[in-house]
Amino acid sequence: MNNTEVVALVTGGASGLGGATVLELAGSGAKVVVIDMDAAKGKQLADAAGDNVIFAHADVTSEESIREAIKKAVDQFGKVNVVVNCAGVPDSGKVMGKKGPLPLALFNKVIQINLVGTLNVIRLAVEQMVNNTPNNEGEKGVIVNTSSIAAFDGQIGQAAYAASKGGIVGMTLPIARECADYGIRVVTIAPGLFETPLMAGLPPAVKEDMARGVPFPRRLGKPEEFARMVLHIIENPMLNGCCIRLDGALRMPPK
Ligand SMILES: NC(=O)c1ccc[n+]([C@@H]2O[C@H](COP(=O)([O-])OP(=O)(O)OC[C@H]3O[C@@H](n4cnc5c(N)ncnc54)[C@H](O)[C@@H]3O)[C@@H](O)[C@H]2O)c1
Repeated sequence: MNNTEVVALVTGGASGLGGATVLELAGSGAKVVVIDMDAAKGKQLADAAGDNVIFAHADVTSEESIREAIKKAVDQFGKVNVVVNCAGVPDSGKVMGKKGPLPLALFNKVIQINLVGTLNVIRLAVEQMVNNTPNNEGEKGVIVNTSSIAAFDGQIGQAAYAASKGGIVGMTLPIARECADYGIRVVTIAPGLFETPLMAGLPPAVKEDMARGVPFPRRLGKPEEFARMVLHIIENPMLNGCCIRLDGALRMPPK
């Protein structure tokens, strides 16, 4: 798909990987709706990015608020043909921790936001995308999801996060197969360690230690590198139904 035809929803677009994707998409000529719970950061980013970027305050787990965000996109830009699902939370906890068993509320929260939220946005966006006129490749849309290498090498304490991210990998192929009839592609990216606000709370020594574990390049990923992968997925029609690791060959140890 050509970038100037793109009208994209980017969930979690106020920050980190989503924020970089918003800027990369807008810079390439796309129109973008930033969807996030953080209204202050989301509005600020949308204002700074120019006329082709608007903000929609929405929770990915809510049918009503995602429907409103899609309506806002269609009212403003006429259609939606790209979704980039970046909204996510990293909450962790051991199955048997110092304070007792893992609270089910924590497990449920992570699954709801990371996995159910991703599916909620996909299903409502597909409902809208099927109305699009196909381009000369027969394409009506592209969906890019964000998993994590924790889907494959989850560490101790990441049962909830790894389950949520593994679920995204698992549903990629069946949704791609189903959406093939509509000309909608579905691709998932599994990032390794990226330098985003999600990592900001960690002490520098811990971050340096994490970076040393990445074979090459021996550093954390830059959000722009994730954003460039999203753009490539949108542009390359043969990418479909797969999960791409973007991790500098990192394989995470048990802890
Ligand atoms: N940073 C990394 O190293 C890394 C590695 C692997 C995977 N990921 C994944 O990439 C995605 C983005 O991570 P990031 O590092 O940019 O994090 P981030 O915290 O910088 O951004 C996440 C954004 O999601 C938003 N959000 C959270 N819950 C939401 C909800 N219910 N509805 C709407 N928006 C919501 C937050 O407000 C925030 O703006 C996440 O899914 C994360 O799990 C990140």
